[in-house]
Amino acid sequence: MSAASQRRVRTLDFARRKEAGEPIVMLTAYDALFAALLDESGVDAILVGDSLNTVLCGEETTLSATVDQMIYHGRIVQRGVRRALVVVDMPFMSYQVSPEEAVRNAGRILKETRAGAVKLEGGAEAAPAVRAIASAGIPVMGHLGFTPQSVHQIGGARVQGRTDGAVEKLVRDAQAIEEAGAFSILLELLVGRVAKAVTAALHVPTVGIGAGPYCDGQLLILHDMLGLNEGFNPRFLKRFATLGADARSAMARYVQEVRERSYPGTDHVHWE
Ligand code: KIV
Repeated sequence: MSAASQRRVRTLDFARRKEAGEPIVMLTAYDALFAALLDESGVDAILVGDSLNTVLCGEETTLSATVDQMIYHGRIVQRGVRRALVVVDMPFMSYQVSPEEAVRNAGRILKETRAGAVKLEGGAEAAPAVRAIASAGIPVMGHLGFTPQSVHQIGGARVQGRTDGAVEKLVRDAQAIEEAGAFSILLELLVGRVAKAVTAALHVPTVGIGAGPYCDGQLLILHDMLGLNEGFNPRFLKRFATLGADARSAMARYVQEVRERSYPGTDHVHWE
């Protein structure tokens, strides 16, 4: 990697990429080990998503994630990263009650994790929180389309943008979040042509997950794209590896070899 490509990625680089027409590349991570591998791979940014509550902790939704949990995972991810921008999710109810509380929680997240930005969900109703956080000097990413923290209100993980007037509302929401100071907006589970319209209406870049190819960047959940989360098979997901199957086979071989006493062998002994 050249010296230039090893410099820390900043939120300004997101804007530069949009201007240059170069896709922004993002994946999630929740720990230092995967974060270091990702950093080496050349991704621009790593999201410490509150999806850790479902992916790692076995919860059904992201709703019970806490600020302390996000700080713990944000800090260990940042420890593994030299170059990529680390963005930490603000969990449910850490920014909805008041802009003051939103700033306090975003400030804690940045101070205690050393991450470079936070992300929060919502349209125009979230603009006061975005404005307050951005005014405090903290970079904020917005999140529109399917917003998992509102899963009960939405009625499940549904593709958004299919109803009459949906494009207009999403464009208005995206512009409100942009105007409030967000440096980028994540678009989740959106009809492709709607994501295209939202992207075209904004100056800041969009990053899509399940929103098709017309966004300024792409995000996937690392555990999904590595094939570790085998039960999750949405149309948009491409698996780039089969680590779940590899892990299962390695574990089965270990069990067998220990039982039949072929592991450890003479090569695996400290003789002195
Ligand atoms: O929590 C997360 O990982 C996210 C993605 C699903 C977009 O917000």
